[in-house]
Amino acid sequence: MMKTELTRKLKIEYPILQAPMAGGPTTPDLVASVSNAGGLGSLGAGYLSPEQIRNAIREIKKRTDRPFAVNLFVPEQPSTPEDTIAEMNSYLNKHRLEIGIAPNTSIPKFAEWFEEQLQVVLEENITVFSFTFGIPSPGIIKSMKQKGILIAGTATTVDEAIALEAAGVDAVVAQGSEAGGHRGSFLTNSADTLIGTMALVPQIVDHVSVPVIASGGIMDGRGLVASLALGASAIQMGTAFLASIESGAHAVYKQRILSSNEDSTEVTKIYSGKAARGIFTGFMKDMRCYEGTIPDYPIQNALTRDIRQAASKVSNPEYMSLWAGQGLRLAQDHAAAEIVKQTVEQAYLLTKSMGNLGKRD
Ligand SMILES: Cc1cc2nc3c(=O)[nH]c(=O)nc-3n(C[C@H](O)[C@H](O)[C@H](O)COP(=O)(O)O)c2cc1C
Repeated sequence: MMKTELTRKLKIEYPILQAPMAGGPTTPDLVASVSNAGGLGSLGAGYLSPEQIRNAIREIKKRTDRPFAVNLFVPEQPSTPEDTIAEMNSYLNKHRLEIGIAPNTSIPKFAEWFEEQLQVVLEENITVFSFTFGIPSPGIIKSMKQKGILIAGTATTVDEAIALEAAGVDAVVAQGSEAGGHRGSFLTNSADTLIGTMALVPQIVDHVSVPVIASGGIMDGRGLVASLALGASAIQMGTAFLASIESGAHAVYKQRILSSNEDSTEVTKIYSGKAARGIFTGFMKDMRCYEGTIPDYPIQNALTRDIRQAASKVSNPEYMSLWAGQGLRLAQDHAAAEIVKQTVEQAYLLTKSMGNLGKRD
């Protein structure tokens, strides 16, 4: 039996969480399939409007009566000067031209609707609320707890994990530098703090008393067993589910995932203003000279939105943000339930075959 402190807390069969992946991959179908298979599905709701979140939660509930998580981005105050923003926006016109869309002279809206998103999460009766990029206010944590919602926050260092535990989270996601997507760092510079999962998990485990969820580069049963050995109570896999049948990732994005290698990714700020790991693209190459002067998140994210959307429409991966972790050579285009099942079976076989390791000769 693969029971851990977290599977008991969450009332799930296996210590496998499908990572929330904002921007489309975590469809209601994917979330429900993982939960139905005995893991915990997560809706990446950071970019969704309050109404879209409500609809997605209801769609998930139509497909499963098992627990699932909803994930949001804790907002930050960007501090980029106006002229830097205007300069970037005008530079991006070169790319707008290349992809066949109109130049943009006005700065698009970048403010988020965190308060309204939270309201929906509180109203819709969900089991787990997870978040990244910071720590919500004590008032928000209190309201979640009053509703009986379990809370998981993302840490990329021991200090962040300690801060999350002090704020009252029920579990900490230890996000190693292998991870695909945005770095969850909030106490240090996210581009500089790149601690690998192998090093991060046991150090966080030693410094907090809440269950730890290992995340970053975990793709199969080997990663699951290794994470449990490091003291984690569960794993959170993103890239492993990106090319799954139920994933909402664009077809060319899935195809890139399936044909790329462990050295195909880089951490970059150029798409959103926040460090994130993704498959290297032509846009990343061209923007390299700007790495130091990119407007803060979420400003840059708003500035590049029309370019990314246009690229997606014409299936041009060179301008899309192809977030992926370093384990991507192991990704498969199977059904999500199959990925959960394979991971569990491989972990069982592995622990059995490792039985001899415990014997002295
Ligand atoms: C496409 C993509 C989108 C992501 N979006 C989110 C998100 O919305 N919220 C979040 O907490 N983490 C997000 N992550 C990070 C994951 O939670 C997790 O840390 C990561 O997927 C683990 O590494 P792996 O991709 O190697 O499994 C995203 C990851 C990917 C690949």
